[in-house]
Amino acid sequence: MKTKLISPSLLSADFGNLERDINMLNDSQADWLHVDVMDGRFVPNISFGFPVMKTVQQHSTKFVDVHLMILEPEKYVEEFINLGADLVSVHYEACVHLNRTINLIQSLGAKAGVVLNPSTPVLMLEDIIEDVDLVLLMSVNPGFGGQKFLKNTYKKIAETKDLILSNNSRALIEIDGGVNLENASKLFEAGADVLVAGNAVFSAEDPAKMIELLKI
Ligand code: DX5
Ligand code: ZN
Repeated sequence: MKTKLISPSLLSADFGNLERDINMLNDSQADWLHVDVMDGRFVPNISFGFPVMKTVQQHSTKFVDVHLMILEPEKYVEEFINLGADLVSVHYEACVHLNRTINLIQSLGAKAGVVLNPSTPVLMLEDIIEDVDLVLLMSVNPGFGGQKFLKNTYKKIAETKDLILSNNSRALIEIDGGVNLENASKLFEAGADVLVAGNAVFSAEDPAKMIELLKI
């Protein structure tokens, strides 16, 4: 996979015009499509689940990047993969048997990512880094779009990069939350491979143009 990727978050799309917004992303320079699933238990908000994922499967031509903000994600990964998820990322904080869940995702033919909340130290990844395809660092507390970027993310990118290099891991680094024109190039420079952007893309006058600008 090449780096400097943009993964627009569907959470900020217009759900009354989902097909239109997915088609707009299909025609844009977006690399991935980020799908935020929230259960109202792991995070204090409920977003959407399988029916919306089905619409994504029907219309998206992009690599589908599913971010599960749910308890007991192992119960649901198979259905998301059957509905076209190319990558499924689960929270470190939500998995009692993380290694088993990562193996399950990969055995079902998808890439597997692990997500860290802003307050979870990178060192918790030491015994999983060799097995994952991606590390997703939350740069806001998960649950809502449009929040302010947390600056300790830069330090965590550096630490994650070190961990990846010292373990010869293939993992990509993805950043999620508060990404905008002001921090995107700094994040890529710091070592991020993939940036999620919800509000920055969908509140822009020209979302496709914004995706292009975020890559520069
Ligand atoms: C937050 C979600 C994010 C969110 C990002 O809990 O995981 O993916 O949609 O939205 P922005 O880019 O608006 O912070
Ligand atoms: Zn997300």
